[in-house]
Amino acid sequence: MVKTIGVLTSGGDAPGMNAAVRAVTRAALSKGIKVYGIRRGYNGLIDGDIVELTSKSVSGIIQRGGTCIYTARCKEFRYDEGIEKGKQKCLEFGIEGIVVIGGDGSFRGAADLSAKGINCIGLPGTIDNDIQCTEYTIGYDTAMNTAMEMIDKLRDTAQSHNRCTVVEVMGRNAGYLAVNVACAVGAEAAITLEEPYSIDDIIKELFEAKEHGKNHYVIVVSEGVGNAENIAREIQEKTGIESRATILGHVQRGGSPTVRDRVVATEMGCYAVNLLEQGIGNRVVGMKASKIYDCDIQEALAMKKPFETNVYNAINITAF
Ligand code: F6P
Repeated sequence: MVKTIGVLTSGGDAPGMNAAVRAVTRAALSKGIKVYGIRRGYNGLIDGDIVELTSKSVSGIIQRGGTCIYTARCKEFRYDEGIEKGKQKCLEFGIEGIVVIGGDGSFRGAADLSAKGINCIGLPGTIDNDIQCTEYTIGYDTAMNTAMEMIDKLRDTAQSHNRCTVVEVMGRNAGYLAVNVACAVGAEAAITLEEPYSIDDIIKELFEAKEHGKNHYVIVVSEGVGNAENIAREIQEKTGIESRATILGHVQRGGSPTVRDRVVATEMGCYAVNLLEQGIGNRVVGMKASKIYDCDIQEALAMKKPFETNVYNAINITAF
């Protein structure tokens, strides 16, 4: 019988991580399993920055953004020496399994630790929604809503000044956030890594819209493409439409999680504890066809995730 588990958050924080930590803690306690919060991701595991979590420690956190056990990226854990140190800390604290909440990089560490006999379960937590084995990642919905609200505000001022607003949203390697937010704000265009784009085509579209009486424009650029400033400058130079660039940045990572993020985080957290309780490790919990499921970590890392072409195409429909 499993007596003690740990939980850690790793990589970029995401709204809903606290809800997941809470769910893991409560689910484990309800089964008589002791829970340790491992702080600052794998760094805390290596250093022994480990605290016991009780129902009191996770009370009042479901609505809070960020992560109460802190997060970090850990270079040392990419190497065997670091992983071995982590394993030794687990043995010292009697930790038999760990729920790792984070992205792809964090899951690699979870697979390595599982191979050393410490069962790890990955929970997808990133605002980028760029984890291949799952339709949904914890934090994505909140980040999309935050970006949408911010861009709605930018639209107000773009409208008042008859401007074009070029907004960069997060997503280092993936444009899921950009394309969905662009759709939600009714943007003229979404520029992402996944689809080829031409500024000249976008400019042509702006001219066409202008001819039909449109007097302000919104263009969403994914962080992976970058260059919001340059894009705004080029649009202004070539069209004469006054343009401004805004980089939304880390504001998208904060804030109180939405209902969806809280519920998915809670469901996934409980699911992960059930796996650990059964002595199962080296799995990632994900969502497929709107249902929570689990799959092997290596298989998860090798999967390909389709881009949201339908959403992308819907943005590009022109109708006057
Ligand atoms: O992976 C989440 C994410 O917010 C990316 O969208 C972004 O590129 C990156 O993290 C930023 O990381 P940091 O907080 O280290 O600057």
